[in-house]
Amino acid sequence: QPHLLGIKYITKEDIELILQTADNFKEVINRPIKKVPTLRDVTIANLFFENSTRTKISFELAEKRLSADVLNFSSGGSSVKKGESLLDTVNNILSMKVDMVVVRHSIAGTPSFLSQHIDANIVNAGDGTHEHPTQALLDAYSIREKFNSFQGLHVCIFGDIAHSRVALSNIFCLQKLGAKVAVCGPPTLIPKFLDDLGVKVFYRVKEALEWCDVANVLRIQLERQDVKYIPSLREYALYYGIHRELLDSLKKEVVIMHPGPINRGVELDSDVADSSQSIILEQVENGVAVRMAVLYLLAGNSPM
Ligand code: CP
Repeated sequence: QPHLLGIKYITKEDIELILQTADNFKEVINRPIKKVPTLRDVTIANLFFENSTRTKISFELAEKRLSADVLNFSSGGSSVKKGESLLDTVNNILSMKVDMVVVRHSIAGTPSFLSQHIDANIVNAGDGTHEHPTQALLDAYSIREKFNSFQGLHVCIFGDIAHSRVALSNIFCLQKLGAKVAVCGPPTLIPKFLDDLGVKVFYRVKEALEWCDVANVLRIQLERQDVKYIPSLREYALYYGIHRELLDSLKKEVVIMHPGPINRGVELDSDVADSSQSIILEQVENGVAVRMAVLYLLAGNSPM
């Protein structure tokens, strides 16, 4: 069974095929009739053991646009609260003849674990601090729309890199596509292993902004930190927030991205997030076409 467990495990050619297939689906979902019958006989379960707005809605919409039958499961309100295990939960859902599973879980490795124990295509919708592959794919799609090529493009990821699955998937994806990747944040939120991945590290926002063409800004993942070893949110906003005056002091226009949810006034000011140099809502729009492409290809359909 093919799965999408992380960007680390797929090739540059796989990524390019997904982006090209998403081009076709973006055209389809902008037609007056947005649905295609491609996954008419496929049943997909969206299993969300962790909160989500964008990813959950985007997968559901992608599945409906492909005419799949869709089951939505959230652990809140389910029998997980009565002590049922992950494997029992998933096997019970699969016994109702489910073909594909989209899973989000706070424990890294959950999608990989499921892929070894159940007979369905698994799509990782975010697992702990490990990976969020469809976010990286939609981010790459949005960058490609703006710049056409990744070759030599400078992308800097700002914020809480240590606890971010979006950062890791983006690093793998952008490097495979030929972009140069940097990160910028407080030293306590930058993991040491990035040196081995060939990622440039900045500790000063102004220097990072001067270097990059694209700034992908992340929030502080307070829910993943046992110890609050970060600056206060006020200090973070002051030293690491992306402010309008900072951007206006540059001799170029940096493209601003954010995977959401935004903590306005902390990592990103509203007059930046809502400005014409931000492509944040384009990222969300592109997520549906990219997820349609992933599901379409995993279901065994030939490249479009
Ligand atoms: N970008 C992202 O994963 O957002 P959600 O947590 O709302 O799904």
